[in-house]
Amino acid sequence: MSEKSVAIIRKWVAPIIKYYIKNNMIFNPLISGSLLRRFISYKVAKTPLSIMIEPICGCNLKCPLCTTPHKYMTRKQGMMNYETYQKLLDDVHNFAIVFNFGFAGEPLLNPNLFKMVRDAAEYNIFTVVDTNSTLINKQRIEEILDSQLNLLILSIDSANPTFFEQFRAGANFKKTIEQIIKLCKVKKEQKKTFPLIIAEVIVSRDNENQLQAMYEWLMNKIGVDDVWFKAICFPLHSQGFSNDHSVSDLVEKYLPKNGRKRYNFVNGKLELINPTMFCSWEHKCVILWDGRVGACCYDYDGTYTFGNLNEQHFLDIWNSKKYRYYREKLIRHKKLELCKKCSYSIDFGN
Ligand SMILES: C[S@@+](CC[C@H](N)C(=O)[O-])C[C@H]1O[C@@H](n2cnc3c(N)ncnc32)[C@H](O)[C@@H]1O
Ligand code: SF4
Repeated sequence: MSEKSVAIIRKWVAPIIKYYIKNNMIFNPLISGSLLRRFISYKVAKTPLSIMIEPICGCNLKCPLCTTPHKYMTRKQGMMNYETYQKLLDDVHNFAIVFNFGFAGEPLLNPNLFKMVRDAAEYNIFTVVDTNSTLINKQRIEEILDSQLNLLILSIDSANPTFFEQFRAGANFKKTIEQIIKLCKVKKEQKKTFPLIIAEVIVSRDNENQLQAMYEWLMNKIGVDDVWFKAICFPLHSQGFSNDHSVSDLVEKYLPKNGRKRYNFVNGKLELINPTMFCSWEHKCVILWDGRVGACCYDYDGTYTFGNLNEQHFLDIWNSKKYRYYREKLIRHKKLELCKKCSYSIDFGN
C-alpha cells in the first residue's frame, strides 16, 4: 500500500477509536458480538458509526435473485431529493464516519449522486458506492474520479456473458465491461489512489470452480484494485418469490455445490449454514429515499422505521425510546421478527 493510502486511511482510524470511547465500547474492538459487550455493557451507541443512504428506490435491472426486490415492495418507490440529503448532512456531519450509498436500487440513477459524495467528502466522511456497473459511461467516469469517492464496489458476477446477462437481467455484458475497463484505465492515468475500485463477485453455480481465473481476469485484464467474493443470498422472505420459481429450480441454477455458500438444501428446504449472532446494525442505520430512518439493510420494505429526518433531527430519531429499545434487543440478541429470517448474520460472506 502506498504511503498516501496509509496516510488517508489513518485519517479515519482516529474517529473510529473516538467513537468507541465515546460510546463506552472500549471493551469491544470488533464492532459487536463480543461476550464482554453482551454481558458487561448494555448501553446503546449515542451516534451511529456508519449510515447507509438510499439515493433511489428503483433500478434499471431486474436481477432474479435481487435481495431488495422492487416487484414485491409495498412501500412507495422514488428518488432521494437533494434537500433531504442536505438535511441529513446538516444533522450528522459532526459524528458520521462512513456513508454507504446503495440499498434498494441502483444509486447511479440519481443524477445528484456524485454531488452528494463530494459534499460528504468536505466533512471527511468516508464514502462508498455500490453499483451494478451498467450505467458507467464517459461522463460518469469523470464524475466518479472528481468526486473524492473512497470506495467503488462494482458488481461483476461472471465472465460468461450469457450467465452475466441472466443473473443481471437487463444488463449488457460487453458494454458494461468496456466501460469498467475505461474507468480503471483513466484512474491509473490520473494516478489517483481513490476511489479504490473493488469488483464484487457473488459466488454461484456458474463461477464456483473458476474463482482463481475470475480473480486474475478482474485484476489483470479489467484492472480493478481488488476482488471480493460474496456468498449468494436467496431472498426467500419475499412474498411471491416462490410463486414465480420453485426453490429447487433456483437452487439447481444458482446455489454453489461446493464453493462458498450460506445454505444447504435439505429435503426441499434451504437451511442456513453456521448462523451466528453477529450483527453490526446496532451501529448503523439506513436512510430511505424519502427521509425515513430504517433499522437495517435486510428490511427492504421499510417495516422497521423510527421517524423521518425531514420532520425531526436525526439524533432525536436515533435516540428515541423506540429505536433505543430496538438496538438493545440487537445487542442482547433477543430475536426480532426480522432477524429470524435474516441470512446475513452468518460468519462469512456479508
Ligand atoms: C441490492 S444491491 C444494490 C446496489 C446495486 N444495484 C448492485 O446490484 O450492485 C446491494 C448489493 O447486494 C448484492 N446482491 C444482490 N442480490 C444478491 C444476492 N442474491 N445474493 C448476494 N448479494 C446480492 C449486490 O451485488 C450488491 O452488492
Ligand atoms: S442491480 Fe442491484 S438493486 Fe438492481 S435488481 Fe439487481 S441486485 Fe437489485
